[in-house]
Amino acid sequence: MRQTLLAAADNGWLRERAMRQPFVRRAVSRFMPGEALDDALAAARRLHERHVGTILTHLGENVSSREEIEAVQAHYVDALERIAAAGIDSEVSIKLTQLGLDQSERLAFDHTAQLATRARERGARLWIDMEGSAYTERTLALYRELRPAHPNLGVALQAYLRRTPDDLDALLALGSAVRLVKGAYREPATIAFPDKHDVDERFFELARRMLAPEARARGNWVTLGTHDARLIARLEAVVAAEGVPRDGFEFAMLFGIRRGEPERLIAAGYRARVLISYGSHWFPWYMRRLAERPANLWFVMRSMLG
Ligand code: FDA
Repeated sequence: MRQTLLAAADNGWLRERAMRQPFVRRAVSRFMPGEALDDALAAARRLHERHVGTILTHLGENVSSREEIEAVQAHYVDALERIAAAGIDSEVSIKLTQLGLDQSERLAFDHTAQLATRARERGARLWIDMEGSAYTERTLALYRELRPAHPNLGVALQAYLRRTPDDLDALLALGSAVRLVKGAYREPATIAFPDKHDVDERFFELARRMLAPEARARGNWVTLGTHDARLIARLEAVVAAEGVPRDGFEFAMLFGIRRGEPERLIAAGYRARVLISYGSHWFPWYMRRLAERPANLWFVMRSMLG
């Protein structure tokens, strides 16, 4: 089921048809406060009032027209202004293929550098999402080049990739901000662990490495992006056993999933953020959310029945 849903994420025929269906749009709204930046900002403001920080991301990937790439860049410049004006604790996360990586590495580099500068002027972190494995090497090369001049720049690493322990060591040695996630794309077994149990264990071991005193002493920032209750409990135990300050790293979750858990963590002294996605290009992203939990298909069916 996971593989089928992930294959559907890349299917243009299905995308065209599904996006026009009101019942699909209703089901998507569970994970997305709305398509407009205003919707995302309103949701971020509500979370801010409950002391929950946010990360905003404008949906879209593999953008091919130069005009559209420039429009995405302008959108993010505006979003950073609006976040600062709203006075909320909100960061931004971008995808490099939204900002020109398929066209030229230089284009994506320049756009990211500009946004990182703008974000830093407003005291915010800028995150780079990690996309499919065809982009891992280029994403990390770009990150390593930009990070020395942009200490507010962070990057996601995917625990399911076989290469990630080496990538993590290199980033920790550099001094980085790393958002560890399990990984959401369709990858062959030669590249990513196919078994969920292996991925969960990898996540735990990598997170331990990130929370170790040597890594934190180097100024690395740790964000643990997961909703996995068992994993979070194991990590809380590590934090307690090793004396890691609870506010010295953060947990992050996706909007609409495990509502109330960020508030629970914050009440216990941890930091937590919610990543809010918005925009009209939601189809592949939504398919990945369904693939993570095929039981979500019931919500689609329920909204089909009205
Ligand atoms: P897991 O899949 O084991 O789920 C654990 C539990 O969480 C489930 O039992 C269920 O209760 C709940 N849950 C998880 N997913 C759900 C869903 N879709 N619907 C309903 N409940 C669900 N990936 C990537 O490749 N690149 C990236 O840059 C990012 N960025 C990112 C940022 C943040 C803040 C988060 C939280 C996640 C990402 N991801 C990502 C997605 C990530 O790779 C992964 O696919 C999801 O987080 C699901 O994995 P879990 O760790 O939640 O565990």
